[in-house]
Amino acid sequence: MPATSEIVAPGLAAVHAAIARYYTGTLQAHGATPHGVDWANRPTQDLRFVQLLKLCDFTAPFSLDDLGCGYGALLAYLDWRHPGAEVDYLGVDLSTAMVDAARRRWRRRRNAAFAVGPVSPRVADYGVASGIFNVKLDTSPARWRRFVAATLDRMHATSRRGFAVNFMAPLTRGMTGIAGLYRTPPGTWRRYCEQRLGARVEIIAGYGLREYTLLVRRN
Ligand SMILES: C[S@@+](CC[C@H](N)C(=O)[O-])C[C@H]1O[C@@H](n2cnc3c(N)ncnc32)[C@H](O)[C@@H]1O
Repeated sequence: MPATSEIVAPGLAAVHAAIARYYTGTLQAHGATPHGVDWANRPTQDLRFVQLLKLCDFTAPFSLDDLGCGYGALLAYLDWRHPGAEVDYLGVDLSTAMVDAARRRWRRRRNAAFAVGPVSPRVADYGVASGIFNVKLDTSPARWRRFVAATLDRMHATSRRGFAVNFMAPLTRGMTGIAGLYRTPPGTWRRYCEQRLGARVEIIAGYGLREYTLLVRRN
């Protein structure tokens, strides 16, 4: 039987497997901490959640898919900054070890579940993904763009109101980059979401990190 990733995104199983291996390694090295999901620290991890959640209307209950959830740090952020919010949360991650860690950490949390995979298995009001397009390792740029496109397609298909994702911005002239990271200007995937997905896109930038967030709303 083909792997789930072959069904939802043909040709991308090797990319998914490499991502899962990489983040299983960071988790083993640093545990369920910001470093364990390759972030520098908790404040910047949270700063990304602030931007992504600008998509959501917190005045009413909603369901939320967190693609590339890691150990479920977004739940801690929600409990801290939106304590009264009724959010039906599903975290999805390619790394089984990451999902195991998330399940352990949040076993007593109401309205929270986790699944292993490259896409959400359900349709929710909103989908968010923080940091899933950054580390491309030695995947070719063309294949990484196919991975990004396939993932955006699925996020669009599984979110009723919209989805939000972040990307690393290009370096300015004279800066030296780290090999294996994917950086792209906002126009590339903004156009994709507008023209291919028929969505409305808002770009959030200037929040102190060399990156930006796309809020992609259904028309
Ligand atoms: C940089 S970490 C961020 C984790 C979490 N979003 C956070 O901010 O704490 C990226 C996570 O996304 C997962 N990931 C990357 N691409 C994915 C995909 N297409 N589907 C599911 N998980 C993915 C990785 O396994 C990793 O755990």
